[in-house]
Amino acid sequence: MEHLLVTGGCGFIGANLIRFLLERTPFEGRVVNVDKLTYAGNPESLADLAERFPRRYAFVQADIGDPAAMAEVFDGQGIDAVCHLAAESHVDRSIVAPGGFVQTNVVGTLNLLELARARRGRLVRFHHVSTDEVYGSLGETGRFMETTPYGPNSPYAASKAGADHLVRAYGHTYGLPVTITNCSNNYGPYQFPEKLIPLMILNALEGRPLPVYGRGANVRDWLFVEDHCRALWEVLTRGRVGETYNIGGDCERRNLEVVERICGLLDEMAPEARIGERRRLITFVVDRPGHDYRYAIDCTKLQRELGWRPAESFESGLRRTVRWYLEHPAWVARVRSGAYREWVARQYGAGAAPGGEGAA
Ligand code: NAD
Ligand code: TYD
Repeated sequence: MEHLLVTGGCGFIGANLIRFLLERTPFEGRVVNVDKLTYAGNPESLADLAERFPRRYAFVQADIGDPAAMAEVFDGQGIDAVCHLAAESHVDRSIVAPGGFVQTNVVGTLNLLELARARRGRLVRFHHVSTDEVYGSLGETGRFMETTPYGPNSPYAASKAGADHLVRAYGHTYGLPVTITNCSNNYGPYQFPEKLIPLMILNALEGRPLPVYGRGANVRDWLFVEDHCRALWEVLTRGRVGETYNIGGDCERRNLEVVERICGLLDEMAPEARIGERRRLITFVVDRPGHDYRYAIDCTKLQRELGWRPAESFESGLRRTVRWYLEHPAWVARVRSGAYREWVARQYGAGAAPGGEGAA
């Protein structure tokens, strides 16, 4: 693995992964980051890397669904391994407009697979980053295993499931050296503030309403993004070809608990008399249609085969995350583009739209 293509590297997990690969692993090759720069892509998350690693990091703006542009990347950059993260990733957006999810997550993945198939002699790995949401929803008990049957409930989950099936089929049929990981909800630095944790941090910071769907009883299994990146490195380098690995934080929390903890941390780390106790900002809003009740991951296989386990507790990871958002106001201002504000205003009403007038 000398010329690694990372797709979606300007998104939340991709940016963390590229940073992790270049700064914290023995990887000595080059990373080629291909990103279309949708509303969720922010090249600023990696702005320093081009200067610090001029020979080891390159960025190409392209759509993974564009056969000619991607063929040029594969051949022009001598790609010999792929870590595929580019996707439309927000469940609520997929409920409003599913078409783009099928286009990028299914058709875009198919395009990458076709290009990889045509060059499979020189490709040592095609790794696909997927989600636990492909397995559907759990009740109060049980955990998702790699063998759990697929039962995706949202258009987002269905599009990721479609991509997973294609990746698996290309491994089985054409002998492409594929691996797949299905991970639980990530959180940490550089996450776009449409997802629960950064949305709540930024709204709470500014004293805006904290929109909790339903009664906030839904459960997610939170994984600190750095732990995820370490797992991806292990699977990329030591995972068995043709296998799927589940990655989870072993950290189940109800949404309401998460939001309350964020309020507590901000009251402690950024107290403001004007706002007072931030728990008061919690507002129960209409539930997401088809809202999955609970996700929980069994990652025994990853622990057993590759010795991976999460290092960060939810308490320490959340504290680090809140601190990161407090310390990076310029990054925050930048991601609050017009498209983002428009989405938040449409989803939650104009009063909830952070950034307001004058935001970058
Ligand atoms: P994100 O939305 O923050 O980033 C996605 C990136 O992909 C953006 O930079 C965007 O510009 C890029 N992109 C979108 N469409 C593209 C296209 N057609 N061509 C090229 N680039 C395109 O997503 P994320 O949270 O970083 O998630 C990364 C991957 O991990 C996704 O595949 C997602 O399904 C998966 N995943 C995420 C989570 C999570 O909690 N965030 C959990 C499980 C799995
Ligand atoms: P999200 O971050 O969108 O991730 P996912 O839907 O992929 O799990 O949401 C996490 C949980 O938080 C999910 O149960 C929905 C809930 N949620 C809210 O209650 N309010 C919000 O404003 C958002 C964005 C999510």
